[in-house]
Amino acid sequence: MNFELTEEQEMIRQSARDYAQRELIKDVIERDTNAIYPTNHVENLKELGFFGIISDEKYGGTGLDYLSYVLAISEFSKIDSSIGVILSVHNSLAIAGIERYGNEAQKQKYLPHMTSGEKIGAFLLSEPEAGSDASSQHTTAVDKGDHYLINGTKNWITNANSGGIYLVIAQTDPEKKHHGINAFIVEKDTPGISLGPHEDKMGMRSSDTHSVMFSDVKVPKENRIGEDGFGFKFAMKMLDSGRISIAAQALGIAEGAYERALQYSKERKAFGKEISKHQSIAFKLAEMKTRIEAARNFVWKAAWEKANGKNFSMTGAMAKYYAAETAMFVTTEAVQIHGGYGYVKEYHVERLMRAAKLTQIYEGTSEIQKMVISRAILDA
Ligand code: CAA
Repeated sequence: MNFELTEEQEMIRQSARDYAQRELIKDVIERDTNAIYPTNHVENLKELGFFGIISDEKYGGTGLDYLSYVLAISEFSKIDSSIGVILSVHNSLAIAGIERYGNEAQKQKYLPHMTSGEKIGAFLLSEPEAGSDASSQHTTAVDKGDHYLINGTKNWITNANSGGIYLVIAQTDPEKKHHGINAFIVEKDTPGISLGPHEDKMGMRSSDTHSVMFSDVKVPKENRIGEDGFGFKFAMKMLDSGRISIAAQALGIAEGAYERALQYSKERKAFGKEISKHQSIAFKLAEMKTRIEAARNFVWKAAWEKANGKNFSMTGAMAKYYAAETAMFVTTEAVQIHGGYGYVKEYHVERLMRAAKLTQIYEGTSEIQKMVISRAILDA
């Protein structure tokens, strides 16, 4: 067993950390408060190669391993988890979806534009009545010979407005249930696509989240991913990987809050000494750190399993579940350690606490992760 990072992994982590601690920190409170999309940071991160970080160099990617990517997501999310989710959906759901399951023509056509960040990707699975129950798709894609006609509404779509390439999951044959679902590459500017208003979220307020409406949207047949009926399996497989990066995001949120709480507890004095010297606070720090280290082991193990061609579905779900619960626990304790200061924006921990809540909900709620884990145990 080797728990050491390679030189390259350390370098990527440091580069993401530097950017987050030097640049993201400057305007993160204002962006989160006013729900401002981080355009300048997105442009800088494109330049630095983070929009094609795990893609093959032959498609313009940076070609790094999954653990390097996961490390970067955690570092960005310590400060700004909106950046974490923008990168995560783009890289591990949209780009990876085309790179792993698209045909060569689709890869050649779309990936170079995506790995450069010119076109950001989005993953359109959730619907008003199909969130956790993902196979209950109401969006339809009717086969019209040389094209499909898509109608329906998708909800909670990250990168909906900033994105240029959508991976859309839709029902092509309701009688076949989940075997009649397909995935399509759809260009955002295709006629018939419209967006709902920007969602006014509790946390991660500067990532752009919208509903997307499809009205007789014509999609060429060659834009279907994989064999007819592969769409649900495709979505499940992509979520398996995506969950590792959301787990990394949750880990980063927890670490960011812990680091601030630790620092604060060494500076703040009460009853004649630093609050870190009171057992009530020291034990909180011990519990926070222990859970963070356990979450890190899960996240890194899932990334290692994925990078080494193992079945990572269960570990990925465990990582997502445990890291999200840890983020919620640690950020809540961090606010508590800060007392009144924790409840105001200037001290950053309240933002991290609001962000932590979302990690328990999206890319599969904590309850869904337990479903995936228990099924893996029972089906083994
Ligand atoms: N890999 C491959 N195939 C899989 C699979 C996996 N991980 N999980 C299920 N399948 C296959 C099954 O083998 C089965 O195939 P067959 O019928 O051919 O045997 C088929 O899919 C149906 O499986 P289930 O009966 O287990 O499906 P289900 O309807 O019970 O649902 C579920 C399973 C895991 C609960 C799934 O619905 C799910 O993951 N729900 C959560 C959805 C989710 O995470 N949404 C997040 C939206 S994206 C997002 O949030 C992005 C963002 O913006 C951050």
